[in-house]
Amino acid sequence: MKLLWAVSALLLGCWRASASTAPNIIADPSEVINQTSAVLKCNLTEIIMPIKGSYWKLNGKDIDNSKKSGSSPYTVLHLEKIGLTSGGKYECVFETDREVKQTIEVKTPPHVSAYKHSEHGNENDKSVLVCVSNGYPLPTDWTWYKEEQDLQVPITNGTSNKYEIKSTPNKTSLTINDLSIEEDIGYYLCYGTSELGKNSDRIHLRVRSRLAALWPFLGIVAEVIILVTIIFIYEKRRKPDEVNDDDDSGSAPLKSNSTSNHKDKNVRQRNSN
Ligand SMILES: *[C@@H]1O[C@H](CO)[C@@H](O)[C@H](O)[C@H]1NC(C)=O
Ligand SMILES: *[C@@H]1O[C@H](CO)[C@@H](O)[C@H](O)[C@H]1NC(C)=O
Ligand SMILES: *[C@@H]1O[C@H](CO)[C@@H](O)[C@H](O)[C@H]1NC(C)=O
Ligand SMILES: *[C@@H]1O[C@H](CO)[C@@H](O)[C@H](O)[C@H]1NC(C)=O
Repeated sequence: MKLLWAVSALLLGCWRASASTAPNIIADPSEVINQTSAVLKCNLTEIIMPIKGSYWKLNGKDIDNSKKSGSSPYTVLHLEKIGLTSGGKYECVFETDREVKQTIEVKTPPHVSAYKHSEHGNENDKSVLVCVSNGYPLPTDWTWYKEEQDLQVPITNGTSNKYEIKSTPNKTSLTINDLSIEEDIGYYLCYGTSELGKNSDRIHLRVRSRLAALWPFLGIVAEVIILVTIIFIYEKRRKPDEVNDDDDSGSAPLKSNSTSNHKDKNVRQRNSN
């Protein structure tokens, strides 16, 4: 009796297991690791329902031109070039009266890229350097280094409020506070590490002196001063010759008053007539 129970429990277990891995799509290979090309195959076995067609998805989005109509229980996707950003969760989908699918993970070493390869900040200000990752799997670990004469010196988060590192799997940022021309100019490296390896990118940071930040403003001030000086000198030189001109300009207000004097003039003119 006990044996019977054990056997039936085991059978039930097996049935449950097969039910949970339904709908019996055999993926070949079951995953792709660190390859530069691959052929993904899905074979729908135990066809219970009519198949209308099939297509492939990458990270939940339909892959263009992967749709095939017909009743074939077999579908293939050729990945000719697997770059560091083309990894992800590939899925073959068979269209029956409901959709059945199977996942094949394509994993690559981490993709790492600087958001901007050149950054600049002002002295005593702060600067934020950013690196992102778009691959699969995403880095589990991010680290920052500063290049010092061919050496890579690790940057520690929170070092005397100078550095602040914030990381999520797809993005890391290094904030450098109180920028100094002597210490902070140079190249910084971000490293992303995953189970498949590590990769890095490099960012050049430039620091401008406070004065340099003022240059455009000083330039305008200088221009205005020069202009005013030139006008002043010009006016002063011409003044003796332009007594008449000055008279003219002196009479300008009178002219504008002339509207009010107009009537008088007219009256006078009429009188003279
Ligand atoms: C699909 O799987 C079935 C059952 O395992 C097998 O007989 C058949 O040859 C497979 N088809 C292909 C194209 O691999
Ligand atoms: C760095 O330190 C700050 C504050 O101490 C913390 O919020 C942040 O999560 C730390 N970053 C990392 C990558 O440990
Ligand atoms: C990074 O991941 C977060 C969630 O973890 C997501 O909201 C964001 O869009 C992702 N950014 C990029 C550039 O993929
Ligand atoms: C991935 O491939 C590269 C070269 O193609 C190799 O250096 C590296 O060790 C491989 N990594 C794994 C985890 O297989």
